[in-house]
Amino acid sequence: MPKNSITVIDNRTGKQYEFPIEEGGVVRATHFREIKTDPGDFGLMTYDPAFTNTASCRSKITFIDGDQGILRYRGYPIEELAEKSNYLETAYLIVKGELPDVKHYEAWERNIKTHTMVHENIKKFMEGFRYDAHPMGMLCGTIGALSTFYPDAKNIFDLESRRLQTRRLIGKLPTLAAAAYRLSRGLPYVYPDNDLSFTGNFLSMLFKMTELKYKPDPVLERALDVLFILHADHEQNCSTNAMRSVGSSQVDPYSATAAAIAALYGPLHGGANEQVIRMLMEIGSVKNVPEMIKKVKSGERLLMGFGHRVYKNYDPRAKIVKRTAYEVFEVTGKNPLIDIALELERIALEDDYFVSRKLYPNVDFYSGIIYQAMGFPMTMFPVLFAIPRTSGWMAQWAEMVRDPEQKIARPRQVYIGEKLRHYTPIETRPEPKMREDAVSDSI
Ligand code: SDX
Repeated sequence: MPKNSITVIDNRTGKQYEFPIEEGGVVRATHFREIKTDPGDFGLMTYDPAFTNTASCRSKITFIDGDQGILRYRGYPIEELAEKSNYLETAYLIVKGELPDVKHYEAWERNIKTHTMVHENIKKFMEGFRYDAHPMGMLCGTIGALSTFYPDAKNIFDLESRRLQTRRLIGKLPTLAAAAYRLSRGLPYVYPDNDLSFTGNFLSMLFKMTELKYKPDPVLERALDVLFILHADHEQNCSTNAMRSVGSSQVDPYSATAAAIAALYGPLHGGANEQVIRMLMEIGSVKNVPEMIKKVKSGERLLMGFGHRVYKNYDPRAKIVKRTAYEVFEVTGKNPLIDIALELERIALEDDYFVSRKLYPNVDFYSGIIYQAMGFPMTMFPVLFAIPRTSGWMAQWAEMVRDPEQKIARPRQVYIGEKLRHYTPIETRPEPKMREDAVSDSI
């Protein structure tokens, strides 16, 4: 029976080492510290910038098979959840680990809806932003500020405190997101309407005008709810890594969520859905697509909404988003940008530059087209990503807090700087040599 281990020979000493291969096909990086040339040696260290091949945790929440294009939350295929579930039920599944029965679902819905209001002072806080502040910047600042309203959140090892903060954050993100939108439009805030569904209430807080009670369009409400399901979690992506890493210092979950929102804001991550629309609008028409493809292949531009660190196949979420777009168009009318997106995809999927790099549409490629058709401004698109991802972030954060193997995240480095040198009086110093990485004051 072959042994579940690897044998390493250090050719510097001829010594052999045997390391166990653990569940999931992993070898603990700390084993490499045993490989030394002499007892005082630090030992070997693994080097993996951007963690392209390094597991940071063991998790039971989300499973992705990037080659097969498989995504499951707690074992349930994303396709089944998108078709049969709703966001709030999916959030329960991600946070609690099981689908709820009727009693538990109703209690969960009540608990979330209990926390849709925010402290009135938050309104004053948000009014401090410039009129044209990006809502992701507002959300990042406001969520961080929430930590000052809930000092009890520091009790991260208390299960009830973790549960309460989870309900608060899932319940309040839509309220804060809608407030940022209303502020940017010079419109009065709309208070939560707990008679509506989670997503219906969000639409009401965004779009209610003078009518006494907002009635969400059921097709748009369902489409947005499906998009929320698709964005709820995605294992150890950049923003979840930020949530876990910042949370590992034992800071409260609001501060960690602010860090996760900041990471998601980036154009290579959740900000991509906004950049896709800007790219499609820049292309302007199907006839200009080849020109953009040429720029991408020359390395001048990225094809926003394409590519993924894990998926080397079509992102299963993108297929569902693409299908949902046509359901939305039945109500809103077709967003003409979809024709440009479809042509970009058609060409890219045939072109060796993309095929050889396994670049396929990801979840952000079509989602912005739907959001724009629903009337959201582009700057709100990453916010629509952050709202549902809050359930994933909180589940991942709680898993980290409970994991006995986890402790404060503190990566090592490979030092490539100057060797030891000593301070000299300023009068005796030569003109400083400008290193290529130094920011010279002449530029
Ligand atoms: C999300 O991690 C997650 O799970 C994230 C997410 C989630 O749900 O949390 O799925 C959400 O963030 C989706 C990704 C959204 N971002 C974008 O659409 C931005 C455009 N995509 C790229 O920036 C890129 O594909 C990344 C950042 C998504 C992934 O980058 P990697 O894994 O670091 O890949 P890479 O940069 O090493 O690229 C490998 C090659 C390179 O070419 P060569 O140097 O080999 O010649 O592919 C090229 C890259 O230049 N490439 C692209 C490209 N993406 C990669 N070329 C053109 N257009 C692109 N979009």
